[in-house]
Amino acid sequence: MANQEDDFKRVVSHAKEYGYVVQSSEIYDGLSAVYDYAQNGAELKRNIREYWWKAMVQLHGNIVGIDAAIFMHPTTWKASGHVDAFNDPLIDNKDSKKRYRADVLVEEHAAKIEAKIEKEVAKAAKRFGEAFDQQQFLDTNPRVQEYQQQADAIVKRLARSLEKEDLADVKALIEELEIACPVSGSRNWTEVKQFNLMFGTKLGASADSAMDLYLRPETAQGIFVNFLNVQKSGRMKIPFGIAQVGKAFRNEIVARQFIFRMREFEQMEMQFFIRPGQQKQWYEYWKEARLKWHLSLGIPAENYRFHDHEKLAHYADAAADIEFRFPFGFKELEGIHSRTDFDLGSHEKYSGKKLQYFDPELDEHYVPYVIETSIGLDRMFLAVFSNALQEETLEDGSTRIVLRLPAVLAPVKAAVLPLIKRDGLPEMAQQIVEDLKWDFIVQYDEKDAVGRRYRRQDAIGTPFCITVDHQTLEDQTVTLRRRDSMEQERVPMASLSARIHQEVDMKHWLLRMGAV
Ligand code: GAP
Repeated sequence: MANQEDDFKRVVSHAKEYGYVVQSSEIYDGLSAVYDYAQNGAELKRNIREYWWKAMVQLHGNIVGIDAAIFMHPTTWKASGHVDAFNDPLIDNKDSKKRYRADVLVEEHAAKIEAKIEKEVAKAAKRFGEAFDQQQFLDTNPRVQEYQQQADAIVKRLARSLEKEDLADVKALIEELEIACPVSGSRNWTEVKQFNLMFGTKLGASADSAMDLYLRPETAQGIFVNFLNVQKSGRMKIPFGIAQVGKAFRNEIVARQFIFRMREFEQMEMQFFIRPGQQKQWYEYWKEARLKWHLSLGIPAENYRFHDHEKLAHYADAAADIEFRFPFGFKELEGIHSRTDFDLGSHEKYSGKKLQYFDPELDEHYVPYVIETSIGLDRMFLAVFSNALQEETLEDGSTRIVLRLPAVLAPVKAAVLPLIKRDGLPEMAQQIVEDLKWDFIVQYDEKDAVGRRYRRQDAIGTPFCITVDHQTLEDQTVTLRRRDSMEQERVPMASLSARIHQEVDMKHWLLRMGAV
C-alpha cells in the first residue's frame, strides 16, 4: 500500500516538475479536482486525442466526427435520465465536516479485506517457493476463503441496496462495518443522501427570463440529438458511427485522485448506430476493437482487463469496462455500453420529433440501437504517463528516471544538442531544428554537460537526442541517441527526418495489433 502511494506521488510530482500537469490556479492554492495541462502535457494530450480520432474516424469510412456545444437545451438532460438518476450517494462526518461517497467508503473497506488475501498469497509463495500453486491456495486456504466471502458479501449487499435505492441500508452497512472517517477517526455519520452530479448555470441576462442550464456531464447527448442531422446530411447507412471529443463536467466528490477523477475533464466518445437485434455482435466487436487500440501502444497486456457490469445503468442492456492497472490498482479506463434505443427513443418522446432511420434493405423505419465506446482522455493520459515513468539502474550502478512514452505520443520527438556552445556547433544545431520543426515538435538545448541534457530529455520522454559535434561540420553526420536503449549511432543529417518519421508515424503504430 505504502509502495502504491509512493509510486502515485512520484507520478504527480514528475508531472509537475516536467511541465505535464499542474493544479489549476495554483497561485491561489488551487481548485480541488481541477487541473491544467502545461506545455508537455498539452502536447501529449493532443497526440492521444489524434491517435484516437485517427483510429475511430479517419480510418473508418462509416464513422464521422462532430463537435457539439457544451450547453444544450435543458430538456436534453431530462430525456437522458441525468436530472433524475445521475446521483452519487453521499455521507458527511459530523466531526470532521468532510463529505464522502458512501459507496466508495464501503468499496474501499472491501478492497482492504481483499488486500489481506494478496498478503496471504505473498506470504505463502515465499514459504512454499517453487512448489507454490497459487490457484490451489486461493481455492483451499480457509483464511483466504473467509476474507473472500466477507468482501463478496459486502459488495453484493451494497449493490443490492443501491439498486433498491435503500440509502438507510447503505448507512447501516457503514455502521456495521465500523467504518471511521479517515480525518476525524470518528463514526459520527449523517444519513446517506443522493447528490446530483451536474453543474447548473443560467442562460440570459435578467433574473426573470433566465433559463436553467447544465454543463454537459457527458458528450454522448450532443451526438444523439444530432443523429438525424448527420445521418441525412452525410447520407449515412446503418451501421454507422458518430464520434466526438470534448469537455464534460461533473461535480464529483473526490479525494486526491489527481487527473483520474476530475470535475472538468475530456471524453472521447463514439455512438455506433445499428439495427435492433444486432447489439450483441457489435458489442463484442467494439470490446475487442477498443482493446486492440490500447494494445497497439505497446503497453503490456497484463495491465488491462475487462470488467463486465452486473449492475447496469438505466440505459444499458450490457456494459463492460476496460480497466487499467493504475498506480493505485485496477480501475476503469474506458466503458463499452450497449445502450439499446433508450436515448434516441427518449429524445423522440421529449422532443416530439421522429428520430428514426429508414432501412432500405428491410423496407422499414426503426429507432436504431446503439453501442457506445467512451474513454476519458485525461484518464488515458494518466494510464500512459504512469506506465511510462520508470527508475532504472544502469550498468555503472547509477540510476536514471526515464519516461518511456510510446514514441508516437511523446510530446517532444527530438532534442538537438550542440556538444559545446562555440565553434559554429550551435548554428549547425539550429539549422537542424529549422529543418525538422516542419514535421515534429523539436527542442534545442545547449545548457549543461551533454550527459545532463540526455537525462533531462529522458525525464521528458523525448525518444531521440541529436548531438552535433565537430565532426558534423566536416561530414554532416550527427549522433542519434535513443531514449530507451541509450544506444548511439552516427547518422547523416539528411536522414534524420526519415528516421524519426519511421518511429513516430501513427500509421506504423496503428497497424500493430490490427488496431483498425
Ligand atoms: N457516455 C457514457 C459515459 O459518460 P462514464 O462511464 O460515466 O460513461 C466514461 O464515463 C469515461 O469517462 C470513463 O470510463 C472515464 O474514463 C471518463 N470519466 C468519467 N468521469 C470522469 C471524471 N470525473 N474525471 C475523469 N474522467 C472521467
